[in-house]
Amino acid sequence: MNPDRIFILTGAGVSAESGLSTFRDKGGLWSQYRIEDVASIEGYERNPAKVLEFYNLRRRIHRDVQPNAAHVALGRLQREWGARGGEVTICTQNIDSLHELGGAQRVIHMHGELGKARCHDCGDVTPADGELSLSLGCAACGRVGGLRPHVVWFGETPLELDEIYDKLAAADLFVSIGTSGNVYPAAGFVAAARREGAVTMEINLEPSENAHLFDLARYGKASEAAPAWVSELIATV
Ligand code: OAD
Repeated sequence: MNPDRIFILTGAGVSAESGLSTFRDKGGLWSQYRIEDVASIEGYERNPAKVLEFYNLRRRIHRDVQPNAAHVALGRLQREWGARGGEVTICTQNIDSLHELGGAQRVIHMHGELGKARCHDCGDVTPADGELSLSLGCAACGRVGGLRPHVVWFGETPLELDEIYDKLAAADLFVSIGTSGNVYPAAGFVAAARREGAVTMEINLEPSENAHLFDLARYGKASEAAPAWVSELIATV
């Protein structure tokens, strides 16, 4: 098989071996925090300081992590496939920047990015290396107290969906890596790609909620299974 256009969807499992917690595995983030409190618009409106602190903690942890072999392999695939006239779309649900640090040139962050802040009032998005607090003001509109992480919370619409569905429709191969298939719309991408004729494959520690929708599956650690798949694919052309 020699797919020209490859769509890769990644989730927390691709960053797990870099030391970042997943959400739904044993001991994952959603067993320690209530989604309603720290990852919903209602939670933010009730207690913005608590939500900012949750993401400031994520920011501190992210500062010390490095991409693993899966991020590096996907970056390599994107660059090499592009050089051969193909296209690899990397779409991640993760808010970390490990794909970029692993060499990916373009990443769609459908759930936002921890390294950016957004004004809750005017919507202005800015890079934000430091921690967020209620005493900060928006550089665009001047309002103080409304700078929030540029992340998508439950009840909000994921980012860049038009481009995502265009790329899904054009894909010859859809590969899902390290995601449990619980959160829509991302969990529906495999069905969308299938409808448009793509071959589908999952790489995950265990079968996901959508396992029946994948034509192919490789179960194992992302840091081993993803580089092995990438090397095999590159060797076929
Ligand atoms: P989950 O925590 O739901 O799922 C992680 C998946 O990765 C599980 O299926 C694990 O089996 C798998 N996994 C764990 N370690 C792995 C490894 N080393 N190699 C390969 N697979 C591994 O995380 P997501 O599916 O990414 O959204 O969660 C989706 C969304 O739910 C997140 O983006 C976040 C969360 O709520 C928002 O906050 C909006």
